[in-house]
Amino acid sequence: MVENIPSLEEMIQSATELFRKTYKVEPSVIVQAPGRVNLIGEHIDYNDGFVLPMALPLRTVLVGKPICGFEASMVSMASEADSGTHPYNFNISKEALQVSEPKWANYVKGVLANYKGGSFPAFQVAIVNSVPIGGGLSSSASLEVATYLFLDAISGEKIKVSKVEKALACQKAEHDFAGMPCGIMDQFISLLAEDSNALLIDCRDMTYFSVPFDDPNIVILITNSNVKHSLSGSEYPTRRRQCQEAATLLGKRSLRECTIEDVKKLSALGASEEHIKRARHGVSEIIRTEQAAKLFAERRYEEVGKLMVESHNSLRDDYDVSCPELNQLVELAMKVEGVMGARMTGGGFGGCTVTMVKAFAVDKVIEMIKTNYHLNPKFFICKPSQGASIIKAII
Ligand code: GLA
Repeated sequence: MVENIPSLEEMIQSATELFRKTYKVEPSVIVQAPGRVNLIGEHIDYNDGFVLPMALPLRTVLVGKPICGFEASMVSMASEADSGTHPYNFNISKEALQVSEPKWANYVKGVLANYKGGSFPAFQVAIVNSVPIGGGLSSSASLEVATYLFLDAISGEKIKVSKVEKALACQKAEHDFAGMPCGIMDQFISLLAEDSNALLIDCRDMTYFSVPFDDPNIVILITNSNVKHSLSGSEYPTRRRQCQEAATLLGKRSLRECTIEDVKKLSALGASEEHIKRARHGVSEIIRTEQAAKLFAERRYEEVGKLMVESHNSLRDDYDVSCPELNQLVELAMKVEGVMGARMTGGGFGGCTVTMVKAFAVDKVIEMIKTNYHLNPKFFICKPSQGASIIKAII
């Protein structure tokens, strides 16, 4: 009933086979970087807020080797990757790194352009991915982070930088080469996640706290709605701008500095109804996430679940980033006894929901959704997984 998640070993094997078939040599480097699901704290990383994601056993695996010259070559197995399985070649010199087709290659080029570890050689690489592309589980961040670590491996990381700085470099890659002004959450969790832990990230000062999550009686069920509305790209920058405008109107640096009382003052300051709603989501979500992390650490999952539902309602009503399909998935899940909470996760306008459910009730949730939601939903059961790593580097 749930999707089979390929093991790391299986992915390494597929990537190695693809590499051998394409380049007729053995790879010398293997890296992996996970996607993520955000448990709570949505659309507040760019408001200096708190987020509580965990890394998934869904990931990008990259195998390859350094080569001479200035031309890199990549091949990707993702069926959505628009160049199919033909290798895509490009010049790695800084001046030559430009945004172009195929789109997926821009994430790699963006990381090359923003790499902080010093000079690196050209390379051949094969990419295999188990994070559903465009499903709101950070397939792009996992490709960026895997690319960064691959460059570390083939360059010997001449200049050592912290994981947080690596996350910032990958975020900038996405801003500059994918035109997506994302926050820091996705790249951060992909690099810094720990096995069996969710991570509370304070996006204001980039500090982070592990929140143990290894209760065998509690399951995180991810449901892919299998829809992606075209608004997802255009609305994100608008939301980000509206939040900043609301904070500025209140004389604050970001929504993190604002209180619910401040939000009430916005009307008198001439803010639009839309700005007030956006600010109310941002401020209330920051409060909810901080509370949820404390409750989580105390294993008070029922209370966390209530906050997840409040988060969803706020994203639906105040932030306007949900959609009928996500709302239906949440409503269906919440009908089942044993479900503690459910919400949309990620940017919204399609993608996935995350449901926290007692282990005995998982099958019932899946059944409920399959019977009533007709867009071919996909289910993943995920445990908090380890962050990105270099698995092999023989140069
Ligand atoms: C996308 C962005 C993140 C974050 C989420 C919403 O995934 O990449 O930075 O803003 O949306 O929480």
